[in-house]
Amino acid sequence: MSALRPNPPMAMLAELTHRCPLACPYCSNPLELERKERELTTDEWKDIFSQAAEMGVLHVHFSGGEPASRRDLEEMVAHARDVGLYTNLITSGIGLNKRRLDALNECGLDHVQLSLQGVDSEMADWVGGYKGGFDRKMQVAEWIGEIGFPLTLNAVMHKKNFDRLDETIAIALDMGARRLEVATVQFHGWAAKNRAALMPTREQAKQARLTVNAARERLEGVLVIDYVPADHHSDYPKPCMGGWASTGINVAPDGAVLPCHAAHTIKSLTFDKAHEKPLKEIWYDSDAFNAFRGFDWMQEPCRSCELKTKDFGGCRCQAMAIAGDAAATDPVCIKSPLHGELVRQAEADAEADADLVYRVMPT
Ligand code: SF4
Ligand code: FES
Repeated sequence: MSALRPNPPMAMLAELTHRCPLACPYCSNPLELERKERELTTDEWKDIFSQAAEMGVLHVHFSGGEPASRRDLEEMVAHARDVGLYTNLITSGIGLNKRRLDALNECGLDHVQLSLQGVDSEMADWVGGYKGGFDRKMQVAEWIGEIGFPLTLNAVMHKKNFDRLDETIAIALDMGARRLEVATVQFHGWAAKNRAALMPTREQAKQARLTVNAARERLEGVLVIDYVPADHHSDYPKPCMGGWASTGINVAPDGAVLPCHAAHTIKSLTFDKAHEKPLKEIWYDSDAFNAFRGFDWMQEPCRSCELKTKDFGGCRCQAMAIAGDAAATDPVCIKSPLHGELVRQAEADAEADADLVYRVMPT
């Protein structure tokens, strides 16, 4: 990728809606959730998928909120499939029934990612803030298996559930999932309100890695396990989004086109709307997408660091949240002057005992 002419995006995250029956405290949706009245229409979404396919996008991830809250989900999946996109549904399962899953199958849906809030109803219904959610999810998982959708189980791990990682892996096996994503909570959006409730301890993170490695060995050829470790226990940042505006494109429920799900926190940038400007123009020419491409925007210590071509200076949104400057070195990096403070704060959060702050839709 050159700073002047990036490759086309490979994947689109289509956040169809912020509406969701669950209220997970680690939700990455923004604090200001969009109401139904501001969501794009079916035709606007369909046009976006056509443009995406035209410009070279390969996959579309239907997400939210809960994408099944949109009654036109099936129509959108069918359209995305018609224009040649690989379709993935990221869902809690709530809002789906056998009839809708059969319809999605007929529309050509390629893959399902099911989220898991806990390993039993007590934990899952508490974390998701939705009574009966676990039992309904288990039923949906059964239907997914009967239809034969390839399944990935997504488990967000944190202080309150890391000790139950073995049971999480067992559930993925029971469901017949091909892949399990063990993702330590990332503190963007609503999750940022829950740092003290959810930040895992260093010991939990260490143990989780051992558990994942042992399971990977034991389950080779049966279950693929992806592990996203906690940023705050690392000395170097991850290459967030593979580098700003390099491989993925997100469209928010109101049509705002973003390089990542938290980019709206960078208030100095203006994000165009997909129903107001061609997607291609936004990707290649907009100031927001070009803001952190290449290396010229970097400050020291990133500018002269040999790792900048690997991690691209880390996460712009995290730099914004902690350093107050989106062009700063990600404070996860040991070379950042803010690294020590970040670790101290993470350790204080890990030791704290705080209640969950649930995600709430505006009334
Ligand atoms: Fe990455 Fe910047 Fe840290 Fe170097 S100084 S490792 S480029 S974040
Ligand atoms: Fe936005 Fe990392 S979440 S760049």
